[in-house]
Amino acid sequence: MATKARCAVAKLADLEPAGLKRVEVGGLPICLARLAGGDVFAISDVCSHEEIELSEGDLDGEDVECPEHGSRFNVRTGEVSGLPAEEPVATYPVSVTDGEIFVEVPQE
Ligand code: FES
Repeated sequence: MATKARCAVAKLADLEPAGLKRVEVGGLPICLARLAGGDVFAISDVCSHEEIELSEGDLDGEDVECPEHGSRFNVRTGEVSGLPAEEPVATYPVSVTDGEIFVEVPQE
């Protein structure tokens, strides 16, 4: 059965408000999103439309917009909030301790 690992991925100071950042955990590409209000979320950094890096796009409110064709994904839920993508992207639990961002990822 798959377990989860809580991994330190970045410093909070490295992620600007309303900013995106790509990190990799065990080869898993993750897009960190820091909302203007300060909350941090983590979704897959692979657009479900054509495998483009979402972290190269823009954060608009709670939505990441893909730089390629403009699909939008809600960073809290991973759900599609703008076409052409139809499939959601994975989300990962985030916690922040002493200025360090941790993401929980599945582990074999
Ligand atoms: S690759 Fe992201 S919208 Fe097409």
